[in-house]
Amino acid sequence: MNPESNPIIVLDFGAQYSKLIARRIREAKVFSLILPYTTTAGELRAYNPAGIILSGGPASVHAEGAPLLDSAVLNGDLNVPILGICYGAQLLAHMLGGTVEAAEKREYGIAHLEHSDTTGFLQGVQERTQVWMSHGDKITRLPEGYQRLGETENCDNAVIANPAARQYAVQFHPEVVHTPEGKQILANFAHHICGCKSEWQMENYVSSAIEGIREKVGDKKVLCGLSGGVDSSVAAVLIHKAIGDNLTCVFVDNGLMRKGEPDLVDRVFRENFHINLISVDAVDKFLDALHDISEPEQKRKIIGGLFIEVFEEEADRLGHMDFLAQGTLYPDVIESISPTGGPSVTIKSHHNVGGLPEQMNLDLLEPLRELFKDEVRALGHELGIPDELVWRHPFPGPGLGVRCIGEVTKDRLDTLREADAIFIEEIQRAGLYGDIWQALVCLLPVRSVGVQGDGRTYEEVCSLRAVTSEDAMTADWFRFPPDVLERVSNRICNEVPRINRTLYDVTSKPPGTIEWE
Ligand code: XMP
Repeated sequence: MNPESNPIIVLDFGAQYSKLIARRIREAKVFSLILPYTTTAGELRAYNPAGIILSGGPASVHAEGAPLLDSAVLNGDLNVPILGICYGAQLLAHMLGGTVEAAEKREYGIAHLEHSDTTGFLQGVQERTQVWMSHGDKITRLPEGYQRLGETENCDNAVIANPAARQYAVQFHPEVVHTPEGKQILANFAHHICGCKSEWQMENYVSSAIEGIREKVGDKKVLCGLSGGVDSSVAAVLIHKAIGDNLTCVFVDNGLMRKGEPDLVDRVFRENFHINLISVDAVDKFLDALHDISEPEQKRKIIGGLFIEVFEEEADRLGHMDFLAQGTLYPDVIESISPTGGPSVTIKSHHNVGGLPEQMNLDLLEPLRELFKDEVRALGHELGIPDELVWRHPFPGPGLGVRCIGEVTKDRLDTLREADAIFIEEIQRAGLYGDIWQALVCLLPVRSVGVQGDGRTYEEVCSLRAVTSEDAMTADWFRFPPDVLERVSNRICNEVPRINRTLYDVTSKPPGTIEWE
């Protein structure tokens, strides 16, 4: 049975947290998709959904032009369970003939839910449990057939339901971490109310993903840019499993990679997976173009532009190709769908190969576009990709180019590469790699005086940075045990010839960014 065949669909009413709802459902091992709230009952039927969740949103049901649901969804036309969350709960009550009114004051923050549910929806949830609220309106009269399942201090109808119609509504947000048992509630909805089995697992997904690629590509040819990062690696191996030698990967060595990276890519993809891999040594080209350039955005432009140039040259040499593979993930796809179903607005400027498919007249193949990052990692593991690649910290497209603060030269890059390798090695040795979102070294355009042996030194300074983060949008500096920092500093100053001083960066994001440039 295809694990994606009966998804739970999250209809997005403009919520900040729709993405999280879909993630939580998937964590309950049930496939979930996000669609704009304008999706009609007929369109929903084509997905064969196991359930529908109405997300929160900033509107009030009484506001002019408030986003509404196709009423056919509620008329029992689809005959699937429905869960309304916050605005979704109010909308459900409002459209079914209940009353929604403005609360005297907006409720925001932690509340305590008390319930005595026996329908299975709150099964396993403590009778008094913490929930997180953020709403201005509240439901003051229930629609016919509905009953109250739970209340909080300020909200009488915090959980309501019509169990016979399999409709549930919660005023709080079960998807956020401040509702500690929210995960359980969403899993209950998926398993007990919608009757879904725990089938969304990467071991089941691999074969349907491979089948999907075969169907789309047939015996045509696919080109894939390999960077050594998790997404392009998993995409390449998956496509290779589907179409074998009709896949060709191109790896551009721009001289801005970490120590040993080109060899690692070669070893894993060519030797281990026997993938057609073309490695292009473009180091001199990139270094020449970066000569005398210090301004970060200029560096990015040069590096991105050259990448496209080199990649195109190689593609021309290969002859006719039909598809360009990209490691686009579901969060990028969601970001580009507006809740009103309008045209795409955001395309991440971070994508190194953006613009290539149109320019080269290629169709796009995006085999990871349904997956969240943690699912990509699980898929990579399932495909046998080594842990050192699957669990890699994110690494920016412009690589060490934006960590050589100031001028980028071969000598400075070599110095930085050595320091970076020591930092990562010591983090791994201390067993801390998995606790850190990203760790990096920057070489600063500053020299400092030091003393080594009996001699005076006047050498470069580097800064170490390690952060924790959920999604790179915000970040906090990592609290290292002092002995780890001591070891890293000693090793860098002793083993890397041109560095005599190390600093540790304790800036969070905001106000700082993760990278220095
Ligand atoms: P910042 O420095 O903006 O970085 O806090 C957030 C995340 O994005 C990565 N990053 C990039 N990735 N091309 C990329 O592919 C880029 O130009 C780029 N700049 C930053 C950064 O490493 C972090 O993970």
